Amino acid sequence: MKKALFPGTFDPPSLGHMDIIHRALRLCDQLYIAIAHNVRKPNPSFSIEEKKAMLEELTKEFPNIKVISFSGLVVDCAKQIQADCLIKGIRTFSDFEYESQMALANRKLGGIDTIFLVADERYAGLSSSLIREIASLGGNLHDFVPSLIEERVKTRFKAVS
Ligand code: COA
Repeated sequence: MKKALFPGTFDPPSLGHMDIIHRALRLCDQLYIAIAHNVRKPNPSFSIEEKKAMLEELTKEFPNIKVISFSGLVVDCAKQIQADCLIKGIRTFSDFEYESQMALANRKLGGIDTIFLVADERYAGLSSSLIREIASLGGNLHDFVPSLIEERVKTRFKAVS
């Protein structure tokens, strides 16, 4: 049984993340979505618990998906759940440069390979920070976040603006 780990910050989850999740499911038997306590991105807009609740709701139709969180190295998380590979989405050439460095480091540190899925062209220009900016300026999120969490994202930014 092949187990894959899809790590990320998911602040908030986007349609781009959902596209990667659906496509990754075709490549493995079990998919772990791992929400990182990301030291490079302090002060997230959503707590780990809120992101976990959103991702669980968004993937509830798939019994072979589990949502977890982790702090520290992604390779340690992968080891803990005995993952066979990591999944990462690649949107642009600069993503590839950055992600290939991470993939090399992760292979050195944990002997684990990374599978890159090229983002669907609809989401190649998308990022969670762009979504947060649009939400904070009152823009329409329909094309960026799953409709199930759209109100939640809007409300969060209405509350802080
Ligand atoms: N479609 C649309 N947007 C996408 C996307 C897709 N397919 N894939 C990624 N994105 C967005 C994300 O929302 C994120 O947006 P943001 O920067 O505005 O928040 C951005 O692209 C970058 O995504 P990603 O590269 O996946 O970064 P991340 O911040 O979500 O997650 C970790 C990075 C947590 C996976 C990585 O830092 C990590 O593994 N950390 C653990 C510590 C560690 O092990 N470090 C050593 C590694 S060698």
